[in-house]
Amino acid sequence: MSFAGYFSHSAVADRELFEAITSELQRQQSQIELIASENFVSKEVLSALGSVMTNKYAEGYPGKRYYCGCECVDVAEKLAIERLCLLFDCKFANVQPHSGAQANLSALYALANHGDTILGMSLEMGGHLTHGASPTISGKWFNAIGYGIDKNGFLDYDGVQKLAKEYKPKVIICGASSYPQKIDFKRFREIADSVGAYLFADIAHYAGLIVAGLYPSPINHAHVVTSTTHKTLRGPRGGVIMTNDEVLAKKINSAVFPGVQGGPQMHTIAAKAVAFGEALRPEFKEYAKHVLENSVTMADRLKELGLNIISGGTDSHLSVVDLTELSITGKVAAEELDKVGITCNKNAIPFDEWPPSQTSGIRVGSAAMTTRGLRRNEFIKIADLIYKVLSNYEKSDYESVKEEVRKETLDLCKKFPLYS
Ligand SMILES: Cc1ncc(COP(=O)(O)O)c(C=O)c1O
Repeated sequence: MSFAGYFSHSAVADRELFEAITSELQRQQSQIELIASENFVSKEVLSALGSVMTNKYAEGYPGKRYYCGCECVDVAEKLAIERLCLLFDCKFANVQPHSGAQANLSALYALANHGDTILGMSLEMGGHLTHGASPTISGKWFNAIGYGIDKNGFLDYDGVQKLAKEYKPKVIICGASSYPQKIDFKRFREIADSVGAYLFADIAHYAGLIVAGLYPSPINHAHVVTSTTHKTLRGPRGGVIMTNDEVLAKKINSAVFPGVQGGPQMHTIAAKAVAFGEALRPEFKEYAKHVLENSVTMADRLKELGLNIISGGTDSHLSVVDLTELSITGKVAAEELDKVGITCNKNAIPFDEWPPSQTSGIRVGSAAMTTRGLRRNEFIKIADLIYKVLSNYEKSDYESVKEEVRKETLDLCKKFPLYS
């Protein structure tokens, strides 16, 4: 395991942690990773994350810091901003949010006041916690109203319009965590304009596809766009905020720091700059093309095998698979698949009869395994393996089926090495 050399200092100084890190590396190397929000960063991104930039306090923004000695981290942050603006063709960017949740909280802090009404996609319909779900600040500090999807799994724009008219929100949030289809950002802006609301688009999941022109960009429709950097964009764990509006850009900067966060994590910002540089290369477009093709291939194959795919298919890197037909919950399915080396997550389906802790579905994504080099044939194989495990669940030869599948997932992983 030559790559463990990256952690050689902990091997000497901290045996327990060294073992945890190398075991995690081994787990990643030997599992088919289908969690739609995960990916594998390049060694260059990893190196930047482990760099001396972590030592520097840099509250403020390039050229306007509260500490001395920021000339080198300023270069990294300016590069990250410039590259992100090029990627999304936007005028202003803030690359400091520590995560997608921090980016979203900062955006809401910039656009609305405590007690204002916000309208976002409900968690159980595919939205994210930070779009107004009750356990989060977004649900507690704002009057959060949720919209959803129709019985076929498509966004219910007429429903959004109706709720907007009724509740007159200050902010409408679009974007999702488990919505496989394209979002009509223009339509959302028309709805927002009809009630004088800000439109805030969270493209955490689709960012990499947007960069490659394979998914619509909200940048000319939304007042503010947020994203994570670690999903299809294949960067380090973190968040960003973008806008074309100079007044909002200033509000966003104040909302991120000092509003929501303290000192920026300069090592992560340096790693974001590396990843954005990678995403600007033509190879990234090629990568994203394969992400989409592989996702469609996997969904089509699961459909051929008789499973219901919510909304009938996918236009992105992810699909939601309805397991009702197999009489197995999403929770059990995800746990059983994990045992054979296929990692995914349970996911609610529209109007799910099972509670969120069980669910009737799973969510599968193609971004991570596409990074490892898997293509159409392998994604057909993965769909077959998923079906083989789930359709044999609790049958008399289930243990031997699982053994066979585990062998096959290990073989696939060996054929497409990670960090070797
Ligand atoms: C749409 C969306 N927004 C925001 C987030 C939050 O990102 P983070 O986990 O980095 O806080 C997620 C996470 O999965 C997400 O799916």
